[in-house]
Amino acid sequence: LNNHNHNHHFRHADSTASPPSSAVAKISHLKAVVLGGAPASEEDDVVLPSHDYSRQALVPSQQKYLEMYKASIENPAGFWSGIASSEFYWKQRWGDQVYSENLDVRRGNIKIEWFKGGITNVCYNCLDRNIGAGLADKIALYWESNEPGFDATLTYSQLLQRVCQLANYLRSVGVRKGDAVVVYLPMLMELPITMLACARIGAVHSVVFAGFSSESLAQRIVDCKPKVVITCNAVKRGPKTIFLKDIVDAALIDSDNQGISREKTKWKEGRDIWWEDVVPKYPTSCDVEWVDAEDPLFLLYTSGSTGKPKGVLHTTGGYMVYTATTFKYAFDYKDSDVYWCTADCGWITGHSYVTYGPMLNGATVLLYEGAPSYPDPGRCWDIVDKYKVTIFYTTPTLVRSLIRDGDEASYFSNLYVTRYSRKSLRVLGSAGEPINPIGGSRCPISDTWWQTETGGFMITPLPGAWPQKPGSATFPFFGVQPVIVDEKGVELDGECSGYLCVKSSWPGAFRTLYGDHERYETTYFKPFPGYYFTGDGCRRDKDGYHWLTGRVDDVINVSGRRIGTAEVESALVSHPQCAEAAVVGVEHQVKGQGIYAFVTPVEGISYSEELRKSLTLTVRTQIGAFAAPDKIHWAPALPKTRSGKIMRRILRKIAARQLDELGDTSTLTDPGVVDQLIKLADT
Ligand code: WT7
Repeated sequence: LNNHNHNHHFRHADSTASPPSSAVAKISHLKAVVLGGAPASEEDDVVLPSHDYSRQALVPSQQKYLEMYKASIENPAGFWSGIASSEFYWKQRWGDQVYSENLDVRRGNIKIEWFKGGITNVCYNCLDRNIGAGLADKIALYWESNEPGFDATLTYSQLLQRVCQLANYLRSVGVRKGDAVVVYLPMLMELPITMLACARIGAVHSVVFAGFSSESLAQRIVDCKPKVVITCNAVKRGPKTIFLKDIVDAALIDSDNQGISREKTKWKEGRDIWWEDVVPKYPTSCDVEWVDAEDPLFLLYTSGSTGKPKGVLHTTGGYMVYTATTFKYAFDYKDSDVYWCTADCGWITGHSYVTYGPMLNGATVLLYEGAPSYPDPGRCWDIVDKYKVTIFYTTPTLVRSLIRDGDEASYFSNLYVTRYSRKSLRVLGSAGEPINPIGGSRCPISDTWWQTETGGFMITPLPGAWPQKPGSATFPFFGVQPVIVDEKGVELDGECSGYLCVKSSWPGAFRTLYGDHERYETTYFKPFPGYYFTGDGCRRDKDGYHWLTGRVDDVINVSGRRIGTAEVESALVSHPQCAEAAVVGVEHQVKGQGIYAFVTPVEGISYSEELRKSLTLTVRTQIGAFAAPDKIHWAPALPKTRSGKIMRRILRKIAARQLDELGDTSTLTDPGVVDQLIKLADT
């Protein structure tokens, strides 16, 4: 990411590249891109892969991509079983059917199964299999502390030993196949170790992002009833110390206050044990629990349009094959790569592309414990140089926050960047939000579109294969059939824009919402019968490139983190002085979207700074600091229809200050409410 040069409309990643050859195959809307003519818009701003890059890439051309894509769509069973059997270890092969699915609510319950009857283990495939293939002494994990100068490494065989010790410990306290384990850890090596240890014994991990509050943690503990909770006493993030065990204690309804040292950490005898005292006493080898491909691997809670988080359930075989394959192709992975993904393991990115995808490929993974701009905004590039990172996968928010923390617009040319060489970088990845076109003059950028539910990348460039359009996630990954439908669910063709759905299943798809299959069907499969509905809007341009246009439901994307507006609303209305609240997303310079809350206090309570602070605190304690509203807008009343529905469309326009686009307000019970709101906008 080295310069913000967005002037030319037609660029080569280096100067020697030649234009791609013209169209070859046609698969529904997909076609090869033919370039030429005067660029008229963003859509026409094309970056060609460099010749040298393409030559060494796993998928070196559009033709090759189209060939593989076509094979994956025409014969999914053959395509995926070929990969599954040649690249993974199976104790026993799956049955006659590679997959079976019903994605149509009109034909009965939704069901997705891949490799059913196949017996395997994801931890075995990440560690034992790679060690057997000669990677025993390869670095599996580099760990870089928040404090510069503190670091650690584990080779694949050392990692296996650490995983086995924990797996043995978990077994010794009665954790069995199918039992849940909640993990509330920052980015320490213990986090992937725990995930892999659970996978080894068939336990189902549920990692809760360590930025969630004790109340959110408690809600998840109550839902999945774990046998064990794994945490640490405290962590430093930037200059701040966060006492994680306090939060866990509070979640387990028993809390006090204390310092960071071990002596001062509050303890409950008979319930708590110190990992460092107990786990290393266990044997360094541990038998694998062989599981069915459709046995659960993990649960991960995510936000939807109602207040209650959804426990997204992923299973073993399909997820394994899908994350490994997407990782390999989207980052054009080579054995010599050093890979750094800045995501936290508390989100899906940390599951699929910190732990499982890379480890299944035997990659060297860097974990960074701390804040990206600590002690200064050059830290990321310092880390890149220190470990000679070749693949860097991050979020647009991180890039934007570095630009802000650095010297504004000149960030990419200022010392925070230029004092580091960054020459090891080969591929850049971006996820979670639309990325503003940045840099791209040397490294290909993979703008990966996907979701917690999809398990892995769905629409993503393959570096080297396609000319890219900065800001577009480009084309579907193998086996994925994105469709764009109108409100009636009619599939649109050619250049179009509408709701993004997916036709037929892919191995990495989630199988259910934990304990609530009905909600799974209602949320994802009922809106457009026959399809999986993503919740996103999407435009397809004349060349077949996909441009994600944001959520079309009540979910907002703040710093690439998913937050349900209903969750924030229910936290706000739980405040004794809040009568009503409505939350919408609003454009935010750094976070992508910010949280904008309209709040009506109860009768007799007046607006005050104090109330604002206290409302914010309520959200922080109920959800977590990352969900705190960026703006609280006082509302004498909310605009409602005669049936009592809040008109969010109008609130969104007021929040964005697009006051001339309010549209029709005549269906409101009291159209005067809108004027009142506008008057109070900046108080
Ligand atoms: C939502 C899913 C980090 C990826 C997994 C996050 C948005 C995701 C992109 C992208 C534009 C994107 C969508 C999606 N999103 N990737 N490349 N361009 N928007 O998973 O937390 O479940 O969020 O993130 O709105 O639905 P998640």
